[in-house]
Amino acid sequence: MNGTGETQNTGKVVTEWTKEAQSGFRKKVVVGQHDLHQRPEFLDEALAALIERHPRDLIDFCTMGDLDEGADSWRAGDPGDLSGLELLEAVKAGKLWINLREAMNVDPDYRPLYDQMLADMKANNPGYKTLNAESGILISSPTAQVFIHSDVSETILWHVRGKKRIRIYPAEAPYVTDERMEAILHMEQTEDLPFEPSWDNECEAVDLEPGMFTSWPLHGPHRVQNLSGMNVSVTMEIVTPESLLKNGVLHANGVLRRRFGMNPTSVEASGPSAYLKLAFSKMAKKIWRNTKPMPKSETTFEIDGNQPSGFRDKAA
Ligand SMILES: [Fe+2]
Repeated sequence: MNGTGETQNTGKVVTEWTKEAQSGFRKKVVVGQHDLHQRPEFLDEALAALIERHPRDLIDFCTMGDLDEGADSWRAGDPGDLSGLELLEAVKAGKLWINLREAMNVDPDYRPLYDQMLADMKANNPGYKTLNAESGILISSPTAQVFIHSDVSETILWHVRGKKRIRIYPAEAPYVTDERMEAILHMEQTEDLPFEPSWDNECEAVDLEPGMFTSWPLHGPHRVQNLSGMNVSVTMEIVTPESLLKNGVLHANGVLRRRFGMNPTSVEASGPSAYLKLAFSKMAKKIWRNTKPMPKSETTFEIDGNQPSGFRDKAA
């Protein structure tokens, strides 16, 4: 780590990617192995320093309620003037979730790893093309969870420390519908989805240990429950030609429905009509701009390592 952002030879990050994983990549839930958990960048000292130098407007400090409370229980908080190590201690003892957005692709110490991870995935998956990718680092408490949602982009989750269970539901109704993805792409709602506990019988659950990574089909609803230890994971949200086209078709259908009183039903993301819809969607986005609905940004707590929850409520 030299902090200059020069290209460094980090050695391969992906250590195992089976034939089954390769053939199922982006079509099914697949799992591979990596070695990020053996690298110094993910020790407490390095993460604490990263928290202190990463731009604060790229960091979310959050907490959440129980499963039955859902995404509405999500709250944002303030780190105050706690040091990176003090914040990590509060995460270990409390119920907190820190998202260092874009840390992997922005921070000069982590960028070489990010470049290598993408290069490894391309080398391991012939024909895999990416247009744009963002990659953050999640640091969360042993009891933290993320409620069910569908990401707009393709996702790879690289698990580094602690244990967590990710449940992935089929990318189809009733778990997620075309109408809902349309609404998400039209920024009428966040990526959160409604949830029924019985759906857990239909999901694929992967228990992530340090050194595992997983990926699933585009728009696959998923929720994450930490099981033990302070959890550290790297998220990658990747725009591919295929996700661009699929989202273009869904967005264009939404424009036809919302602006032209039409009722398009085809979500086919191949062939000339799909590309026509993608072009139409790009044009419509220039004409009618939407602003993204953000999760609640008002901060209602301060991180406090002396509290069992790791935070104290701000005075109203
Ligand atoms: Fe996600």
